[in-house]
Amino acid sequence: MSGRVAIVGTGNVGVAAAYALFQQRVARELLLVDRDRERAEGEAMDLAHGQALVGSCPVRAADWADLAGCDVVVLAAGVGQQPGEDRLSLLQRNAEVLAGIAAELDHHAPEAVVIVASNPVDLLTRILQRLSRRPAERILGTGTMLDTSRFRALLGYHYGINPRSVHAYILGEHGDSEVPLWSDATIGGQNLRGATINGRPWDPEALHGLFTEVRDAAYAIIQRKGYTNTAIGLVIAYLTRVILDDQKSVVPVSAAVDGEFGLSDLCLSLPRVVGAGGVEGSVLPEPDEDERAALTASGETLAGHLAGLDL
Ligand code: 2OP
Repeated sequence: MSGRVAIVGTGNVGVAAAYALFQQRVARELLLVDRDRERAEGEAMDLAHGQALVGSCPVRAADWADLAGCDVVVLAAGVGQQPGEDRLSLLQRNAEVLAGIAAELDHHAPEAVVIVASNPVDLLTRILQRLSRRPAERILGTGTMLDTSRFRALLGYHYGINPRSVHAYILGEHGDSEVPLWSDATIGGQNLRGATINGRPWDPEALHGLFTEVRDAAYAIIQRKGYTNTAIGLVIAYLTRVILDDQKSVVPVSAAVDGEFGLSDLCLSLPRVVGAGGVEGSVLPEPDEDERAALTASGETLAGHLAGLDL
């Protein structure tokens, strides 16, 4: 792998991703693409000036033709939510942005694994899979990686335990219908349900409140700062490293379903094995009945929106 990574869209999310990729030395070369070329140039200059401090990769503004040989292309273009707006309401606008980009990507970076970060991420990932000639497994969305990270962080605070030692997933839509997988949530191999961990007993009410905080986190952040970007930037850097290093890590990315939980012809997040080939396999959880029904319902919500799309 060349380690060449392109970010399409240098808004708040694209720039946070670029910063994380640069600072963590994930990419060997970073290309920034924006329909506002000057903006991409400004961001590239600003980041490149940290070169002497980080000793990281070259960064430059780029056009579509420069994407040749990219291993990973991150799509962060499009509009973000306004305060009070949900992700699904961005669909028509961002699907049109995507339609304008898909052919360029196929033409100039046919081999790249594409990470979709724009919202509504599950629907845009599926739309790009339909528009692109690239195999579907090479197009994945950041999905509930961010929600899962938020979930683990808040569970970590709750139990007084490092979030890295918390194993718990949010699956389904990256959005209002997402599903916490309590049946599979563990710390130190201990299932959270019914257990006292680090002196904190199982408290369904408090933990449900914690989940709603996760589900509604974007609304709360957007209300306060206008957008979310730093944590999704870290998610993108993490996922890019998983691909570049061919890690075969299990991450809840948004990918095409093929009959799981009775769903097909859409993308949502389930634990997937990700490596240099994109989505290479699955490690499916065994949810309880309620969780299973919630996952199916989450997928059906997404299917309804895909059906109503005018593209
Ligand atoms: C987030 O959850 C808005 O999807 C973005 O932060």
